[in-house]
Amino acid sequence: MTSIQLETPTTGKYEQPTGLFINNEFVKGVDGKQFEVINPTNEKVICSVHEASEKDVDIAVAAARKAFEGDWRKVTPNERGKLLVKLADLFDERSDQLAAIESLDNGKAFTMAKGDVAAASGCLRYYGGWADKIEGKVVDTSPDTFNYIRKEPIGVCGQIIPWNFPLLMWAWKIGPAIACGNTVVLKTAEQTPLSGLYAANLCKEAGFPPGIVNVISGFGKIAGAAIASHMDVDKVAFTGSTLVGRQIMKAAAGSNLKKVTLELGGKSPNIVFDDADIDNAISWVNFGIFFNHGQCCCAGSRVYVQEGIYDKFVQRFKERAQKNVVGDPFAADTFQGPQVSQIQFDRIMGYIKAGQDEGATIVTGGKRKGNEGYFIEPTIFADVKDDMSIMQEEIFGPVCSIAKFKTKEDAVRLGNNTTYGLAAAVHTSNLNTAIEVSNALKAGTVWVNTYNTLHWQLPFGGFKSSGIGRELGEAALDNYLQTKTVSIRLGDALFG
Ligand code: NAI
Ligand code: MG
Repeated sequence: MTSIQLETPTTGKYEQPTGLFINNEFVKGVDGKQFEVINPTNEKVICSVHEASEKDVDIAVAAARKAFEGDWRKVTPNERGKLLVKLADLFDERSDQLAAIESLDNGKAFTMAKGDVAAASGCLRYYGGWADKIEGKVVDTSPDTFNYIRKEPIGVCGQIIPWNFPLLMWAWKIGPAIACGNTVVLKTAEQTPLSGLYAANLCKEAGFPPGIVNVISGFGKIAGAAIASHMDVDKVAFTGSTLVGRQIMKAAAGSNLKKVTLELGGKSPNIVFDDADIDNAISWVNFGIFFNHGQCCCAGSRVYVQEGIYDKFVQRFKERAQKNVVGDPFAADTFQGPQVSQIQFDRIMGYIKAGQDEGATIVTGGKRKGNEGYFIEPTIFADVKDDMSIMQEEIFGPVCSIAKFKTKEDAVRLGNNTTYGLAAAVHTSNLNTAIEVSNALKAGTVWVNTYNTLHWQLPFGGFKSSGIGRELGEAALDNYLQTKTVSIRLGDALFG
């Protein structure tokens, strides 16, 4: 069996693929192994999916290679674009189903999951539009030479995605890779394999030829490592922890020097000046850290508030956070569902304990909510010192650390006092402050008077240890293209 009938509270019964999606078919793994998929809302097993071993990675890579060297090269850019647009349309048509699977497996609120699906389809459609706009150049070097520069696909792309935005990361990876004419072997995260398999089936429905998009479920140390070190994978794109990002680079270096792009962790500063519109600032700070249960690489987890409004801000932010509805992802008013897994739950509770042990003050939260599912109360620490672990390390949960600052220079120094550089935000009504501070912050994205407003048209990625390369926007095409120079001699031979 490579599919199973499941049920979600919003969409009822549906057919969930469970096999490895290779060559447009769902197949069992060579070793016949399966692993359990957990519902983080009730800690129960939803189903089992087939697990990819190294051998299955070989099979998937061979399929992607055969497709890449075969007829895929004869498909026009316009046709590639149409496939992505069709896939985006199918995402819109099945939006409720995709979102329900996401909520079931990941635990995110259904309303938020709907937003993820819309962002995923927007991304796929956007890259569909790029497919026939990838252009080279002609460069004059001398009258008897004709040089042109071609942009070519890289080849077989390995893509390893995390569990915090399973579908969205699937789309961020597959959209640009396909637009540029590559083929793909994508591994979903072991915590959340379901939506990626369902979406793989939509590729087939959209008319993708076999072998272009292959989606496998499996563990990082086995299937993920096999992709990263594979001799016939030309490029690996990874989103996840900085620790594993380093391993991916090492594996690439130790195998065939495949191209590497990494989107890693963050500890993003969210800076609030005295002159900010405080209601707006609190709303965005709340959304910045508690959206997706704090499981965002760009979460605004370090909040620096200027001394003039610090006490008032902390009090009112506390009241705001306490209003966030934590509970069943399928309830209409839920903002925050459970954390994704027992491991993540334990890790976050460990950080909450560390913050208390290190002497930070808990303003609100700090405890498990209920006794079933991985729910954690929205938690705010105030008066956090810069060297405390909760101010330096990525917690990846609903835990916010606040500290006070005096001057604009302090804000920039504190904001940049991190090994990460994924995102940052500034809240102020002064245009000069907004621009000066934004320019001085070492981060790939800076938001002013807003937070988390990502868009598929805007590049996203990290400074410093937050990564290599940019996803989204035109910038992401660079990750999936090679540059070829062709130089044609027009005159007589130079050397007789
Ligand atoms: P992880 O980095 O282990 O997992 C992300 C993906 O990498 C998964 O698909 C996993 O199977 C794969 N993977 C794991 N080890 C691998 C290896 N040796 N070779 C190739 N692929 C491998 O992250 P994990 O353990 O799920 O979460 C740990 C922490 O990582 C979180 O607490 C958070 O701080 C950070 N994280 C950051 C994310 C981001 O969006 N930047 C997403 C997920 C986690
Ligand atoms: Mg799960």
